[in-house]
Amino acid sequence: MSYVDRMNKKIKLLQQRDDVVILAIESSCDETAASIVKGKEILSNVISSQVDIHEIFGGVVPEIASRNHTANIRGVVDKAIKDSSLSVKDIDIIAFTNSPGLLGALLVGVSYAKAMAYSLDIPFINVDHIKGHIAINILTEPELKFPFLALTASGGHTMITRVNDYDDFQVIGKSIDDAAGECFDKTARVLGLGYPGGPKIEKAAQTGIDNISFPTPLKNQKGYDFSFSGLKTSVLNYINNNKKDKDYSIENIACSLQNKIAEILKDNIKRACNDQKINQLVFAGGVAANKRIREALKQVKNIEIFYPKMEYCTDNAVMIAASGYCLLRSKKELKLDITIGACARQKT
Ligand code: KG4
Ligand code: ZN
Repeated sequence: MSYVDRMNKKIKLLQQRDDVVILAIESSCDETAASIVKGKEILSNVISSQVDIHEIFGGVVPEIASRNHTANIRGVVDKAIKDSSLSVKDIDIIAFTNSPGLLGALLVGVSYAKAMAYSLDIPFINVDHIKGHIAINILTEPELKFPFLALTASGGHTMITRVNDYDDFQVIGKSIDDAAGECFDKTARVLGLGYPGGPKIEKAAQTGIDNISFPTPLKNQKGYDFSFSGLKTSVLNYINNNKKDKDYSIENIACSLQNKIAEILKDNIKRACNDQKINQLVFAGGVAANKRIREALKQVKNIEIFYPKMEYCTDNAVMIAASGYCLLRSKKELKLDITIGACARQKT
């Protein structure tokens, strides 16, 4: 029997168990991360961040990210196994981020996972990074029930998803241009606050006041889409036009922008929850670390909000294991596919 046939059989058997040991690998951007999860139990979580390396460039440099993933991945995976107190032989399946992300960076994790799976004679499963940001909550929040809504806001994506089941993710609204995180990052860069921008803007906003009126994009729309590019341009224009003014204040710009982003996210979520008649919301992705935005969402009446713990908001591999867990629990027929770019494809 070929490797692929043997692995497809193994995957089918794993789908009948709820104590599967998953090794997960994440390398889509500037974090090399690995984790071991057994069923819903998180046994290890190792992250090697390259933030310090990219900070001097004001953003992630793809080639530098790939090279550092290559240098880090072995140590990170070995530590995740060691921290879990399990042995490499206990691993049932390897889950890894297959998309979206920087191609060269992804390739490091994909190649490592495939080679390791092949050498251990175990299957691998490819995971969508964005679903991972949502899936971590399914792993950690027993009160969360299908269907629920998820607001995912990261550096590359801002979207509202209706999650009907373990692998039934229906996107009902998304950004038509930039992501919320990009708006934070670009503004912070122009203000000279550094990278990543979200935490820097949040810190500056603490001592600022909301006294600048930035525009609300897509005002009065009926759907749940977002747009941040006009807001970003408006903030950048404000900075250029006012930086010599005596009242110019980085803290006030940060505070006004943060409040505007909070208002945009809150308004869309309020309408989506009402229209969809859903009262549970997951707030996921790097921007979910922002306390002011968390507070704004709490003001929406009659919804219960779930946030990942701070360490699971930004990129990590526990979320990738969680997504692998959801795929295995989905009862859909999973097939190993060894073509580059798409590795374990679902038959729908
Ligand atoms: O999910 P993530 O770690 O990586 C992507 O998949 O993009 O999200 C990174 C994004 C960056 O844009 C970063 O500025 C933003 O999340 N972020 C924040 C905060 N912490 C991270 N944005 C606002 N407030 C924060 N505290
Ligand atoms: Zn992410």
